[in-house]
Amino acid sequence: MLETRSLPIIVLLLITGSAARPFFPLPSKDTEDHRQPLQTSRPYNIAHRGSNGEIPEETAAAYMRAIEEGADFIETDILSSKDGVLICFHDVTLDATTNIADFKQFANRKTTYEVQGVNMTGWFIVDFTLEELKLLRVNQRYPFRDQQYNGKFQIITFEEYIAIALDAPRVVGIYPEIKNPVFINQHVKWPGGKRFEDIFVKTLKKYGYKGSYLSKEWLRQPAFIQSFAPTSLVYISNLTDLPKIFLIDDVTVPTQDTNQSYAEITSDSYLDYIKEYVVGIGPWKDTVVPVEGNYLTMATDLVARAHAHNLQVHPYTYRNENIFLHFNFHQDPYQEYDYWISKIGVDGLFTDFTGSLHDFQEWTTLLSSNDDSALELLHKIASMIQSYKRG
Ligand SMILES: *[C@@H]1O[C@H](CO)[C@@H](O)[C@H](O)[C@H]1NC(C)=O
Ligand SMILES: *[C@@H]1O[C@H](CO)[C@@H](O)[C@H](O)[C@H]1NC(C)=O
Ligand SMILES: *[C@@H]1O[C@H](CO)[C@@H](O)[C@H](O)[C@H]1NC(C)=O
Repeated sequence: MLETRSLPIIVLLLITGSAARPFFPLPSKDTEDHRQPLQTSRPYNIAHRGSNGEIPEETAAAYMRAIEEGADFIETDILSSKDGVLICFHDVTLDATTNIADFKQFANRKTTYEVQGVNMTGWFIVDFTLEELKLLRVNQRYPFRDQQYNGKFQIITFEEYIAIALDAPRVVGIYPEIKNPVFINQHVKWPGGKRFEDIFVKTLKKYGYKGSYLSKEWLRQPAFIQSFAPTSLVYISNLTDLPKIFLIDDVTVPTQDTNQSYAEITSDSYLDYIKEYVVGIGPWKDTVVPVEGNYLTMATDLVARAHAHNLQVHPYTYRNENIFLHFNFHQDPYQEYDYWISKIGVDGLFTDFTGSLHDFQEWTTLLSSNDDSALELLHKIASMIQSYKRG
């Protein structure tokens, strides 16, 4: 009942959203793209939940800031509202990063569900319609980060997030995660028996996202699809050839869908299997180089073995603060980036501080295309002078 009642309101919300800032015209209407292309010559700067080191995570403001700061990709977690609208939000509960507790009318909505084998209590996203979620405001997750933007920004939808990327002044990729698919498919039902994964891919297609890694279509609208659930990645490989990244959790956490151990999913035989479906893996960095007493220990061979299987490696998550930086780096995030890029040789980095990674890369590895365009300009001027002389 709730679903049918709230449907026109969603449409209305989308319309008012587009009145405020129109959605980018569908790519079929605009094939000429003169924007600066995606750089592909140095490891990808993946803005984890936007510039969430500065602005509350997964909000429009956090993504726009990340684009200003030089992100190659803006990253997000996709979940679903009760009425089946895909939204950008990390936790399955609203408790930690919104002001939900201030809403008396929602007090009785607090409940307990089993999520990946653990009973969790809180206000679950899947119990709220989009209209209700839009009443909330997002807060900074960590108390040691800037709190001045708390309560200012709304939760955004998958479509609004896509519009932000497509509206960027240069080509900026998207990097959405199919988040908690087992849980979402248990709690949210779509017409015609469609699965969460179907709606996810349908949304990408609606906005013109298609094509295999580095294809012409992909370079025009780059996207990586990420998930911790291998069955979701295998399933959608029938629906889209967009590149996929298999996320790998801590060594103690089994996969949420197939209940496989870390050892199993990082074995050579498993990498052989999964490389048919994905272009890379996204491991937690502390499993690639295990940590003891906040010091790095010996690096594992995971990156070398992934590369030997022709898989990229995009570890997560790089964070500037002392509380996250291991002692080896002497509280200097540039030293951490240098270690992972120069010594470990990763292909992309999920960072909470896109600006820092961008500054580091600009300082150490200037893009070759910058030199090219400068040279091009010199050639152009030279030829103009030539023709002037001849004239
Ligand atoms: C979660 O709680 C329910 C109801 O109390 C119980 O039946 C179930 O076994 C619990 N699950 C876990 C994983 O603890
Ligand atoms: C993909 O499609 C093929 C052909 O229709 C089908 O046989 C296969 O089961 C599908 N795979 C998945 C994972 O759905
Ligand atoms: C997952 O695997 C572990 C270890 O093999 C096993 O103990 C556990 O019962 C399994 N859980 C489920 C839900 O199948």
